Amino acid sequence: MLSSEVARRESVAARFREKFASEPELWARAPGRVDLMGSHTDYNLGFVLTLPISRDTWIAARRRDDGVVRIHSMNLDAEDEFRLDRIASVADSRWCNYVQGVAAILQNEGLAVTGCDAVVDSTVPLESGLSSSAALECALATVFEALGGWSVTPQQKALLCQKAENEFVGMKCGILDQYSSCLGREGCALLLDCRDLSTRTVEIAGGIRVVICNTMSQRRLTGGEYIQRRSECEQGAALLGVSALRELTPEALAARRHELPEQVAKRCEFIVAESARAEALAGALEAGDRAAVAQLCAASFAGARDLYEICSPAMSSMMDAMLAAPGVIGARQAGAGFGGCMVALVDAAKTDAFRAAVLDAYRGATGVQAEVYTVEAAQGAEVMQ
Ligand code: GLA
Repeated sequence: MLSSEVARRESVAARFREKFASEPELWARAPGRVDLMGSHTDYNLGFVLTLPISRDTWIAARRRDDGVVRIHSMNLDAEDEFRLDRIASVADSRWCNYVQGVAAILQNEGLAVTGCDAVVDSTVPLESGLSSSAALECALATVFEALGGWSVTPQQKALLCQKAENEFVGMKCGILDQYSSCLGREGCALLLDCRDLSTRTVEIAGGIRVVICNTMSQRRLTGGEYIQRRSECEQGAALLGVSALRELTPEALAARRHELPEQVAKRCEFIVAESARAEALAGALEAGDRAAVAQLCAASFAGARDLYEICSPAMSSMMDAMLAAPGVIGARQAGAGFGGCMVALVDAAKTDAFRAAVLDAYRGATGVQAEVYTVEAAQGAEVMQ
């Protein structure tokens, strides 16, 4: 364990003692993720190149025998307490809904869920497009799994957590976030095929680092934009008589583009090309083909801006800052868009200079202090030793 992890563990244990006057008996963790390519392709059953990241959510827990869950968030300095036989979603508190949603879905599936006291600590920045909610869900499902004495595959766990988010929280997300958080493999990116949920591990060539640049601008995600994009894609697929946009090649779509209303055509064009770019970027990163990485990332950002229309002014400023910084190989949006984090592939020898230049340029352009995180590929949800 690194010394920073030892310190983190001690601070979580101290909070646990303070809140619950006992020692935790179980620790679980699950990572956030950044998508290297494949914006909004997951619910279109296409490809995503995703990186489960070395920023994660930890939960320290201790079993209770009275069917009560008490949970404290160190990040929000907030508590929730509920009975497992009386779960109801809370209108005004979203983080509690992720917690209760996971418990409710596991119970509905017939899995034994035990009461517990728990403290949550996350190094995934909240609400910034790095899947802090999926990391919470997947870490929590891992706690309930260990306390309940049952076991599911990482794939099953991801699907259960997605169900909690879809059905309990009411966010109709695809599988990307939970899948990344459950299936992460240290040292590897994952090329996820959202049609059959298979993955291929992708080793990024030496000398290339993944650097996340947080615009610090509020995402307006839960609003209608995400659902609107999703339904435009579904409309396109229905008009073209395919079950999902995944079934179309860029050439097949181009030949029939005129059959679609213009806005729907733009959305479809982006998704079909973006899914192909995810596969292409996997190969380019393995081969260390920097020119291809640059070109694929540029095309992804242009499409997100002009066709899928998920970019904000803050994202454009950050894109300019990233592209002007030393060591940049490629840069693009990340997550759902509309603000939040963006991602760059950077020459490993220049990450410090890249970081300093991005912070400077972005502050100069927007007056906002950004955050920049260099990340590694991390292991998926697991019980910690
Ligand atoms: C959010 C959703 C994911 C995915 C991305 C966009 O993170 O939760 O399922 O659709 O947006 O790629």
